[in-house]
Amino acid sequence: MSESVTGGAGPAVTNAGVARSAALYQRARQVMPSGYTRQMAVTQPHPAYVASGQGCWVTDVDGNRRIDWVNNFASLLHGHNKKEVVDAIHNQAATVMLSVMPSEWEIKLAELLCERIPSVERVRFMNSGTEANLMATKAVRAYTGKPRIAKMEGGYHGQYDLLEASFQPRPDQWGDASAPRSVAYSVGTPQSLLDEVLVLPLNDIEASRALLRRHAHELAGVILDPLRLQLGVVAPRHDYLAMLREETARLGIVLVFDEVLCLRVGYHGTQGLHGITPDLTTMGKIIGGGLPIGALGGRREFMSVFEIDAGDPKIKHSGTFTANAMTMAAGFASMALMTPEAFDRFNAVNLRLRDGLERIRVDLGIAGVVHGAGSLSSLLMTDMPLNNYRVLAMAMGSGLAAKIETYNKLLLHEGIYSMRGGFIGSTAMADDDIDFTLAGVKRALTRMQSL
Ligand SMILES: Cc1ncc(COP(=O)(O)O)c(C=O)c1O
Repeated sequence: MSESVTGGAGPAVTNAGVARSAALYQRARQVMPSGYTRQMAVTQPHPAYVASGQGCWVTDVDGNRRIDWVNNFASLLHGHNKKEVVDAIHNQAATVMLSVMPSEWEIKLAELLCERIPSVERVRFMNSGTEANLMATKAVRAYTGKPRIAKMEGGYHGQYDLLEASFQPRPDQWGDASAPRSVAYSVGTPQSLLDEVLVLPLNDIEASRALLRRHAHELAGVILDPLRLQLGVVAPRHDYLAMLREETARLGIVLVFDEVLCLRVGYHGTQGLHGITPDLTTMGKIIGGGLPIGALGGRREFMSVFEIDAGDPKIKHSGTFTANAMTMAAGFASMALMTPEAFDRFNAVNLRLRDGLERIRVDLGIAGVVHGAGSLSSLLMTDMPLNNYRVLAMAMGSGLAAKIETYNKLLLHEGIYSMRGGFIGSTAMADDDIDFTLAGVKRALTRMQSL
């Protein structure tokens, strides 16, 4: 049971009103465009403003208390206010927050990642997943001397405009299914930048292989999230990943796994689950213990572009806040708790959630599928075979997006914060938190059927 429940803080309160959040939003609108700083926080008619968090529960300024299945977009591994992490942050803040001098915490976190993640022999830290992917782009170019980057249609790698290409293209922009066009995500992206991106159709082995071979002479790297496309919905097939591994190695293209989000599925990350080792891996989220972080790791050979031993490095990577002692200490404290046994316990609790979701789906006769790995789970209410971005986009356009929105709202009413209907677990959750969640999910879905 989560700390807050055993601590007698009572059941989730879902009806305490919204007056304070509404007033804060009006203030926010006076100083930020439309009142927001991050798009993913947009909620109609206004967001709920956070007041406090404890374990897997979070309370807003009006006193609404909900179970947190978002965990700040998967960056909190232990939920809120985990003692060991809070202590590490307190101690470090009281000792030295930041300095131009490196700290031992940086080495400790680097050692931990090198020990656990199969591809990682050397690591560099950044301040976000976006920055890690940006540095990966520079690294693969510097290593190969080639200019272009390949990514999956629909793949998300943060906010670097190059890698935003074809994140969410509209059907009229798609082009040929076996050679997707590179489409801007942000208005104003220069065509010259889009031309640097080769877009691959996920899970289409023949078409992707042909594209890789045709463009090998100009391709520096291929980047993909090895677990998921579009927030957990579409999984790269194992044979697709195996093809990428084989072709990139043969063609002199660097294979980059973006494990910014999916590193949380196991002690050795998603690459450990698949048994496929990329050349470079980008990381972020959980490895910062809740503070901003990114990292790029890989075999020594690929990371040599940062080495200074032979003179000037090929890439002069730095950054004001890079590897600051606070983040390094928090990240180490958080990750050190995750032994292989801790991952097993964590994943077993989340498997219980997926089993429960599947039982509910069957009981209520809902067409769809329960997806997930490790602490990432979702019930997807469609029977379309979701194996690439285009099928997903078509499913979304023909009712799935509306269903997800309704489901998310009904879950909120049940005291459950979900990631658009998806569940990102924390180690603060125990069996009765799963029971609480499943009971709420069942009521929400039952109501949905009567709408
Ligand atoms: C797979 C993936 N890559 C990169 C990022 C970007 O990370 P950040 O938001 O820390 O810049 C995210 C964030 O959600 C992500 O899910």
